[in-house]
Amino acid sequence: MDARLVLLPGDGIGPEVVAQAERVLKTVARQFGHAFHFVTCDIGGGAIDRYGTPLPEKTIAECRASQAMLLGAVGGPKWDDPTAKTRPEAGLLGLRKEFDLFANLRPIKPWPQLLGASPLRREIVEGTDILFVRELTGGIYFGDSGRRPHAGGEEAWSTMIYSTPEIERVVRVAAAAARLRRRKVTMVDKANVLEASRLWRQVSAKLMAAEYADLEYEVVLVDAMAMHLLSRPRDFDVVVTENMFGDILTDEASMLPGSLGLLPSASIGSSGPGLYEPIHGSAPTIAGKDIANPLATILAAAMLLRHSLNLEEEAAAVEAAVERVLDQGHRTADIAAGGPSIGTTKMGTLVVEALSG
Ligand code: IPM
Ligand code: MN
Repeated sequence: MDARLVLLPGDGIGPEVVAQAERVLKTVARQFGHAFHFVTCDIGGGAIDRYGTPLPEKTIAECRASQAMLLGAVGGPKWDDPTAKTRPEAGLLGLRKEFDLFANLRPIKPWPQLLGASPLRREIVEGTDILFVRELTGGIYFGDSGRRPHAGGEEAWSTMIYSTPEIERVVRVAAAAARLRRRKVTMVDKANVLEASRLWRQVSAKLMAAEYADLEYEVVLVDAMAMHLLSRPRDFDVVVTENMFGDILTDEASMLPGSLGLLPSASIGSSGPGLYEPIHGSAPTIAGKDIANPLATILAAAMLLRHSLNLEEEAAAVEAAVERVLDQGHRTADIAAGGPSIGTTKMGTLVVEALSG
């Protein structure tokens, strides 16, 4: 296979972890006889510094000409001024919107080797296997917002807005995924308060009854869900929810496996390139020290192989290589529980070796 892949290293630890994932993808290409062409583009804070915008036109054009995009992370204290004209995060949001990447898949499956790294007791976490499907191009992230003068200062608003088709298409992604898993869909909303949530509840109930009556379907309020994730995470299979609830719940859920450093995510649209990235952020305090965990990005590369290139065997090989390295006891600092640890590059080398061996 011939594929054009765009690397978007971004800020903070982004470049370090993407570099390791690139090595892994190159190894896959060699082992399985593919030709992957890599193009590296600017996004986020670095792009603001160089071009005055977090998502330069050139980056968009390269992404459009690609099969998939692999992103590190964006943002950092340097660009955190709340009065700034633009922010690194706008680059990521722009990319999601530009390519209509409406479904964000975030699998949460604690590794048996690392159960000790979880802040929760083993008997609660063990056996958890959740696929979050977060709506990614609508809701309060993209609704009308603004500021205006107000007695005593200003007032500001952000609007959560959803249409029937926006809800239907992401619920369909969730339901289709559930059919290949444990056949259960949990839809999370705040229908006791928010009108937008009441539309979600109506639309998804109707769709599930009409097209997915073979699946178990339940609705849970978002505040209760925050609790259930810590008390009975094993009870959930596919969880679908709107953009901001998904943002918050997936950060919470990411603690079940113990470290953000292990969690990949995929953002997909109905056509065009998909976007793959670790769930973690740019971690500016550890950037440039060769201590960040590259496994989330390496596992995101596996998702890229699976979802955008349809290379299931190759994706599984990468995941198996990561598993082997963990089985051998190798740990970066974030998952070492105070024990001996290795650096970013070394971890990448071990995965490459496991893949080649
Ligand atoms: C995420 C991040 C982004 C989001 C930020 C960086 C815009 O937190 O991917 O979860 O809020 O969606
Ligand atoms: Mn987030």
